[in-house]
Amino acid sequence: ALATLAALVFGYLLGSIPFGLVLTRLAGLGDVRKIGSGNIGATNVLRTGNRKLAAATLLLDALKGTAAAAIAARVSPDLGLAAGFATFLGHLFPVWLGFKGGKGVATYVGVLLGLVPVVVPVFAAVWGAVAWLSRYSSLSALVATAASPVVLWFLGHEKAALVFALLTVITWWKHRANITRLLGGTESRIGDKG
Ligand code: G3P
Repeated sequence: ALATLAALVFGYLLGSIPFGLVLTRLAGLGDVRKIGSGNIGATNVLRTGNRKLAAATLLLDALKGTAAAAIAARVSPDLGLAAGFATFLGHLFPVWLGFKGGKGVATYVGVLLGLVPVVVPVFAAVWGAVAWLSRYSSLSALVATAASPVVLWFLGHEKAALVFALLTVITWWKHRANITRLLGGTESRIGDKG
């Protein structure tokens, strides 16, 4: 019980570090929440025009999920899932930002990398294919997160499939404004400035 509590708290705190906000501030680019979609993630950091900072945001928001999940998974697979889930929630609902965090796509992939890395190339391929065809980051994330639990299920990772299905539902809910814009034809495309 103590190990579970420690994994949840450690995961949440690590997840709640808003790297996109921290990096853009350090770079003197102001508050990323005031541009584009208002999100703190890599896609919106890209709208500042700084690709390196967007890549760093993607990497760090992902690796915090990888680290928490992989470390906890050394104790047990269930603890890995719990820590990964907590990290994801920390990113989406960080106490430091009044619980208004990101949409969770990078952290989702990071947790996947820490627990079932074989699914990451599938996620990347789906994301990449949709992005190449549509140039919508949000649509790519919606499709890739929908596909991942299905892939996990078919690979025999039933428990992970269920947990990731829950993460998918939460990340879709966080994308509801994006979904409205996609349906209305007003969503910004990768490469468009905020
Ligand atoms: O990863 C978030 C992405 O799917 C959408 O970001 O800034 O366009 O809302 P954004």
